[in-house]
Amino acid sequence: MPSEPVACPEPAGPSGLSEVPLRRTCPFDPPPGLAELRAAEPITRRVMPLDGTELWLVTSHDLVRRMLADPRWSSSLDGGLSPEQPLHVTQPEPGMFISMDAPEHGRYRRMLTAHFTVQRMNRLRPRIEQIVAERLDAMERLPRPVDLVAEFALPVPSLVICELLGMPYEDRAEFQAAARVIVDMTASPEQIDAAVAGLAAHLAKLIAAKREEPDDALIGELIREGALTDGELVQISMLLLVAGHETTANMLGLGTLLLLHHPDQLALVREGAPGAADELLRYLSIVDLVMFRGAKEDLTLGGQEIKAGEFGLASLAAANRDPALCEDPDRLDVTRPKTAHVALGFGPHQCLGQNLARLELEIALQALLRRFPGLRAAVPLEEVPVRENAAIHGVHSLPVIW
Ligand code: HEM
Repeated sequence: MPSEPVACPEPAGPSGLSEVPLRRTCPFDPPPGLAELRAAEPITRRVMPLDGTELWLVTSHDLVRRMLADPRWSSSLDGGLSPEQPLHVTQPEPGMFISMDAPEHGRYRRMLTAHFTVQRMNRLRPRIEQIVAERLDAMERLPRPVDLVAEFALPVPSLVICELLGMPYEDRAEFQAAARVIVDMTASPEQIDAAVAGLAAHLAKLIAAKREEPDDALIGELIREGALTDGELVQISMLLLVAGHETTANMLGLGTLLLLHHPDQLALVREGAPGAADELLRYLSIVDLVMFRGAKEDLTLGGQEIKAGEFGLASLAAANRDPALCEDPDRLDVTRPKTAHVALGFGPHQCLGQNLARLELEIALQALLRRFPGLRAAVPLEEVPVRENAAIHGVHSLPVIW
């Protein structure tokens, strides 16, 4: 049985029609106003509240997919996430392939795809299960309430990505802090540059040591394959570190909170509902409103004439709640048939780590709910601190008891 959506506090006031609605008033739902836009004007001219950049906001499932699959829309953009840094086209550092277009993007992507197949990720399964079990043991020993984010949601993906890359877990404080700044939409360009430079210097040292003695983890394997420079390896490692733990950590934190408010769905996840990870990804769309693209040439999308140099923003959350995608899109239903959701992106940049993300979510959520059948939030929903202005939605902490 699917669940009714949780009643969330009403928005404080109507969003100005000319701005991109950015603020979620309920941590589980897209910002108010997007559903109306999707129905009335699925591609529409809007202004980013943070920096005043004008762009095309795209909200329907069909148009979001068309935009993300269209090579005339470039990923080579910078800024737009902080007031002082308006969106502009940029030359990404070699290796930072999330910000590249074909053909450079394809070169890196091909090199990495083989390392992220379902089979390769399944080889990690026993190790992920062990990491999860150890974190649950540690949680059990702590006085309650326990902060699920600090003790479980953040350490599990951090440990897994360290294991995958071959990074010492002792380095986590450094990369976790840097990642938090990098995805903070209110951080200044100086703060972001400093965080990136610090992390890059740290990774450069690690990669130099691995060149001397490559191990069997991913960075070591890429070194042995011999096609990448140290600079490229630094950027690739940085991308994987940031993309690979912030996202999954927030899915585990926010996903658990969501399930605690949907006990029927929680029971199904505990029993091992096979499509649960994808439905949670669809429903929460934790990566949203940061999917910028720039038009490389004049083009038409959804009947709108777009000029070369104009920017577009794909709302994955609005697309994932489009009635054209599935029945009753505002209901959480972990038993629903597979959907073509776009929570992991679409087109050439679709999430490289998606097989790992699904595996981690499945293992971690099932194990958590089985270990603590009486798990519940120690505070009401309104008191859970939600991450504001972060490029990735989630909660700062989640006190739980059982
Ligand atoms: C629950 C977790 C995750 C979510 C919701 C998520 C979401 C996304 C999205 C929406 C994109 C598309 C970005 C774009 O089009 O500009 C993306 C790309 C990417 N993700 Fe994930 N991701 C998750 C987990 C991971 C993990 C675990 C890893 C790595 C270990 C990872 C690595 C990447 C990389 C490298 C890209 C860039 C791909 C490219 O440009 O070709 N992600 N992810």
